[in-house]
Amino acid sequence: MRLPVLLTCLLAACLAETPHPCESPLFLSGALTVSTQNEKLWTYAKYLYDALGRRVRLLELGTYENKTFTYDVLLLYREATMYEIHHHNRTCKKMPLKVEFYPLAIPKDATLLGQAVVGSSSGPGQGLLVNTWTGELPDKSGKYSSVVTEFGCIPVNTNYQTKEFGWVVTSFFDNVIGIEDPNLLNPPSFCSEAERMEDQKEPVDFFSLFQSKK
Ligand SMILES: *[C@@H]1O[C@H](CO)[C@@H](O)[C@H](O)[C@H]1NC(C)=O
Ligand SMILES: *[C@@H]1O[C@H](CO)[C@@H](O)[C@H](O)[C@H]1NC(C)=O
Repeated sequence: MRLPVLLTCLLAACLAETPHPCESPLFLSGALTVSTQNEKLWTYAKYLYDALGRRVRLLELGTYENKTFTYDVLLLYREATMYEIHHHNRTCKKMPLKVEFYPLAIPKDATLLGQAVVGSSSGPGQGLLVNTWTGELPDKSGKYSSVVTEFGCIPVNTNYQTKEFGWVVTSFFDNVIGIEDPNLLNPPSFCSEAERMEDQKEPVDFFSLFQSKK
């Protein structure tokens, strides 16, 4: 009994290194979907992500409580500012962004749930090797799980618990390393006279971006 087990191990698992928590590339663009357990929200967004400059742009198209919406937002974490961009009338709303920037990464204290192949390992190009991690959210308000590719630490999906929505599921796809048009990470010229809104009640975080202003 021992030998076949050992052989299998030598051929497959033992050759692979144990996965370690990892950081995703500093520049990413692609698309994502967000949906919630309570079915209130579904959204598709194109995203641009610059971890070095701490800037994120989201161009969303979704439904919230059965109403469709579009939402274009630029988050400048360094300046603690966000812009809601309305292209159709060339206006912006400038608002304080009172949250920390969390880079796309698997936290050092995450627990490895396991390694798996999404798709199939039967033929070339049919599968994707991923690692699934779990842990507690930084503010201890619940749990999360994150799936990233073994090679490149590219986000595949994340789940986290929220009080308002239950589990929030984000799936990433069509990710490309780099940002083709870095201009999209600067406020458009017509934003310079943006009206500053200081009376924001709730702090904005990544999660609330998908529920506000609907
Ligand atoms: C959304 O639509 C579905 C199906 O028509 C309905 O059952 C549900 O109550 C609606 N939800 C809200 C929040 O209006
Ligand atoms: C521009 O459009 C946005 C979103 O539809 C709206 O909230 C805002 O009041 C408009 N601004 C002007 C000046 O019309």
